[in-house]
Amino acid sequence: MSSPLPRLSLYPLPLLVFILAAVGCGGSDPIVVIALHPSKPQIIYVATNDYIYKTRDGGQTWENLSKGMSHSRVISMAIDPLYPATVYAGTKGDAVFKSYDGGQRWTSLRNGLESNTVTSVVTQFVFDPQGSGAEWLAEAKAHQVLDVIGPLGRAFAYPRAPINCLLVSEGYGASSIFFLAQELRARGKRVDMVLGASGESHVFKPIEAKRLSQTIVIVTADGSLGERGSVMDVIPRAAQSAGTEVIYAAGPRPMLRTVAEFCIEQRIPAQVAVEEEMACGTGLCFTCVVPVIRKDGSGYDNLRACTEGPVFNPARVFWDRWTSDETRAAPTPPEGFPPVVSSWPA
Ligand code: FES
Repeated sequence: MSSPLPRLSLYPLPLLVFILAAVGCGGSDPIVVIALHPSKPQIIYVATNDYIYKTRDGGQTWENLSKGMSHSRVISMAIDPLYPATVYAGTKGDAVFKSYDGGQRWTSLRNGLESNTVTSVVTQFVFDPQGSGAEWLAEAKAHQVLDVIGPLGRAFAYPRAPINCLLVSEGYGASSIFFLAQELRARGKRVDMVLGASGESHVFKPIEAKRLSQTIVIVTADGSLGERGSVMDVIPRAAQSAGTEVIYAAGPRPMLRTVAEFCIEQRIPAQVAVEEEMACGTGLCFTCVVPVIRKDGSGYDNLRACTEGPVFNPARVFWDRWTSDETRAAPTPPEGFPPVVSSWPA
């Protein structure tokens, strides 16, 4: 049975504009996931906050595929690239569902899982194949079993109010903000993005970024895509034009520091996801520590990015120490630190 896709919010992606134009609808139930058939471009799955839909004619008509599924929100979908009739849907706080017939019937795969265990289906790893470990991973074949620990540490926190969020990333940090953008949109927040990289070949998924954000500014060091410069060259303008109320950032230390200084100066609450070398990933080795000033300013603690991080309040990171190569750099001043901005997260 085919039915029109109900109330959808507009996305700045040509495909979705086309879809919306085709079905003649608009509204407030946002699309949170799009999954494309690996070989038949006319077949597309979309998940909104409430249902999963499928089109077989490039968006002319849609079929609701939610029969047999729980009412938990679908937050991720994956199509088996070898057997595309096999579709997976990961739901928020319930289970992963599997369909062998292109979504007509779903089977819950929660046996053996604690409730709330499954919140996502891992469909891709993002990495740069440099170094022996990453090169080994690059050699992995489809359906090869990998032993993975994660997710590690604490994730970004979501604001309760429907506010405007600017997501800033540079280099590898970009991979972490796409899921964040998806979650923020699903919660009714406005998302804008600044995407920075050394050059065009390192700009991560610009089309996907466009789909997820109201506005996007791409900036590259060599000017090969978007504007030439660094993310800090465009953040003040991007923040002002988007009416930004919260900034999320991910990327290398120097970039995070400049973003932090901007946020502190502008009194904009922020969260940053740090990049640190991790040996154990479980909190044992302390190779990943970040100096974080205590709330009362009496000193700082070396917090583990893999356990207490990787997301920190940039107003409390002891940047002089963390960004210095000197092992004894920047001790705690005898009088303690000045009062620390205590915006969230704690
Ligand atoms: S990686 Fe070992 S404590 Fe963080």
